[in-house]
Amino acid sequence: MRGQRELHTRVKTAKGRKLSSTRWLKRQLNDPYVKLAKQEGFKSRAAYKLMQLDDKFRFLLPGKIVLDLGSAPGGWSQVAASRTNSDKQQPNSEMGRVIAVDLTEMDPLQGVMFIQADIHSLELSKIDLEQGKADVILSDMAAPSTGHKQTDHLRIITLCEVALNIAKESLMPEGVLVAKVLEGGAGSELQKELKANFTTVKTVKPEASRKDSSEKYIVALGFRGMQ
Ligand SMILES: C[S@@+](CC[C@H](N)C(=O)[O-])C[C@H]1O[C@@H](n2cnc3c(N)ncnc32)[C@H](O)[C@@H]1O
Repeated sequence: MRGQRELHTRVKTAKGRKLSSTRWLKRQLNDPYVKLAKQEGFKSRAAYKLMQLDDKFRFLLPGKIVLDLGSAPGGWSQVAASRTNSDKQQPNSEMGRVIAVDLTEMDPLQGVMFIQADIHSLELSKIDLEQGKADVILSDMAAPSTGHKQTDHLRIITLCEVALNIAKESLMPEGVLVAKVLEGGAGSELQKELKANFTTVKTVKPEASRKDSSEKYIVALGFRGMQ
């Protein structure tokens, strides 16, 4: 068996490459989830975060309709498609649907309908959901980091608020919302709104989420329906 030392890839600081890029490259090359994603054919290591959240809360069931906001490059969509059976070739009653939305282009994925759009201007009526509703809304959205902690936190809270508004309009009663937040949680206003609209609201950090990242995920279960 190869030792840990041999498995660890060393990265030399190349001329012209910034130290931060070298650090990023080193982390990527030695990250077990990056390796696993490559081996198992997932578009991103983020796929494992969703798998772990779903293993704990069981919301991606066969036949469910999922809206994946901020989907590119597609790891979460792949997990959602596989667990809801939307990627199966043989149509059956337990076949789900996955609709993915992102600002940036995404390669086609089996069982995933992709819409390139900014969620701030997303026209929900144009999304072909079952009776206009989804069972699960996922948001792994993140704006590019500014490096300024408070600004980044506010930006992600804004994205979370938009996801919650979309959920209020297009979730089925008993539906589930999963959304990324940064350390400090959802912000008190957002937390209040989530608790008013869902019976259970949990904030969790899946094992695959990097320890040095301040990201966490809100899992809101049991949508109370339009009030
Ligand atoms: C961390 S990545 C998502 C990774 C994805 N869950 C996966 O498993 O591959 C965050 C994504 O959010 C998208 N995003 C950020 N702001 C957005 C917006 N306003 N509308 C749509 N997508 C947005 C970004 O383009 C980016 O692709």
